[in-house]
Amino acid sequence: MENKEKYKAFLEKDRTAELGGGPDKQEKQHEAGKLTARERIDLLLDKGTFVELDKFVVHRCADYGMEKQKYAGDGVVSGYGKIDGRQVFVYAYDFTVLGGSLSYTNANKIIKVQTLALKNGAPVIALNDSGGARIQEGIEGLSGYAGIFYQNTMASGVIPQISAILGPCAGGTCYSPALTDFIFMVKEKSHMFVTGPDVVKTVTHEEINKEELGGAYVHSSKSGVTHFMGNTEEEVLMGIRELLSFLPSNNMEDAPKRPANDDIHREEEALQTVIPADPNVPYDIKDIIEPVVDDHYFFEVMPHFAKNIVIGFARLGGRSVGIVANQPAFFAGVLDIDASDKAARFIRFCDCFNIPLITFEDVPGFLPGSTQEHNGIIRHGAKIVYAFAEATVPKITLITRKAYGGAYIVMSSKQTGADINMAYPSAEIAVMGAEGAVNILYRKADPETKAKAIDEYTEKFANPYQAAELGFVDEIILPRQTRFKLIQALEMTENKTQSNPPKKHGNMPL
Ligand code: HXC
Repeated sequence: MENKEKYKAFLEKDRTAELGGGPDKQEKQHEAGKLTARERIDLLLDKGTFVELDKFVVHRCADYGMEKQKYAGDGVVSGYGKIDGRQVFVYAYDFTVLGGSLSYTNANKIIKVQTLALKNGAPVIALNDSGGARIQEGIEGLSGYAGIFYQNTMASGVIPQISAILGPCAGGTCYSPALTDFIFMVKEKSHMFVTGPDVVKTVTHEEINKEELGGAYVHSSKSGVTHFMGNTEEEVLMGIRELLSFLPSNNMEDAPKRPANDDIHREEEALQTVIPADPNVPYDIKDIIEPVVDDHYFFEVMPHFAKNIVIGFARLGGRSVGIVANQPAFFAGVLDIDASDKAARFIRFCDCFNIPLITFEDVPGFLPGSTQEHNGIIRHGAKIVYAFAEATVPKITLITRKAYGGAYIVMSSKQTGADINMAYPSAEIAVMGAEGAVNILYRKADPETKAKAIDEYTEKFANPYQAAELGFVDEIILPRQTRFKLIQALEMTENKTQSNPPKKHGNMPL
């Protein structure tokens, strides 16, 4: 055969490979309101940067007539490309090929991309849309999953790993996304569950549909499995691009710095009136965060789960920061099990990837009660203190109002290693609230004496000055100065070096 013909034959093969399961299956995919694997990758990556690997890989299964059902690429599209000019690796399950099911061979394609990403220090993005292990292959698919989970674990803390759930994600398939750093889902189009509605009904007699069992809303607001929910696939894919803009490519780098167009000296007069005079009146902590950060832009993570704590990324003076903030507008900003889990994992992510932590503190304490105690608030709450204490990135804390009891300690206090602790004059830093304290100290006193004691206790402790006298607070600042003060602290800590005692790894309470 002439070379010319060989080239033509190759192009023909290549074109067929690009069709995945074929035009009919692609049409079905579109009818289901979903994009194909290649369309997704096109939207995700910078135009024309995708390099596909293993395009002609096929499975070797000969059971159940599978020898007649071979598709080039075997249901996974994988390779590398760029996002905002930076290298990333990507793999997408192709639902048009045997329901995107995982085979021994396409699992090895995924593992190849994961291995390359780890070696080359670049993020991996997984676009999931799969019916799970390829049933015709028996346990070969299982070994494929195990290999993927192993690579997820090895890469954890070394390169960012991001998962989008764009269709079904059932059974063991859920555990790869769960091992990655961030999960995105699409409203009404994506579902995640370890066992689907039919199995649930058989085993527990519970009747529940797939949306209520494992839809995007459920995982965003109830289970805390998902970090971001998009209305459409496009929104999710753009969200991934945006998230990556805050992150370094690996744990040896700093996050990319953006030229700061926003004046670092900008003072915000409106901040002077955000905090109500009455400590029992709520306010929205985002009314402090947003005016302070560059361009008023705060990229919130897990906005619908454990709303009593707010986490997310922003920039200060062009530098990426991770923000952890109690939310007085929701349950008074109290710390509970979900808030502890949410914050601790985020703190650890930022620490893995050299992203400084800014903590805004207004917390009345841990949520009391048997529900919290019996579900283990002790071990869950311990995660926050563990995460803050072990974090070696710059840690800056600002107490806006309440900082009571154990919650004061765990929210990046001076003694758990924060670099700079600031407080507003409205801060109240005390071992406990005045009423609780007086009820213990003056248990048998008459109401009049108690009322007087409450006033005295409030006067003595509901302020930042005892903490400032002891050096637990480094500086008391006015709200309007917040932006520049935080940027100054960030600049001061820019070259921070700190390491924890050598160890294989700690034993974090889980
Ligand atoms: C092989 C599969 C498949 C699978 C789907 N298909 N799942 N082929 N193995 N696991 C095929 C279907 O036969 C069909 O082929 C095509 O993909 C599209 O599937 P549909 O059912 O027509 O699509 P839809 O109605 O959208 O339903 C999607 C679905 C459903 C909800 C994912 O297909 C389903 O329930 N699949 C099985 C899910 C499952 O139980 N997986 C667990 C496997 S065990 P045709 O030729 O008709 O188009 C597992 C354990 C892993 O994953 C543990 C790891 C630790």
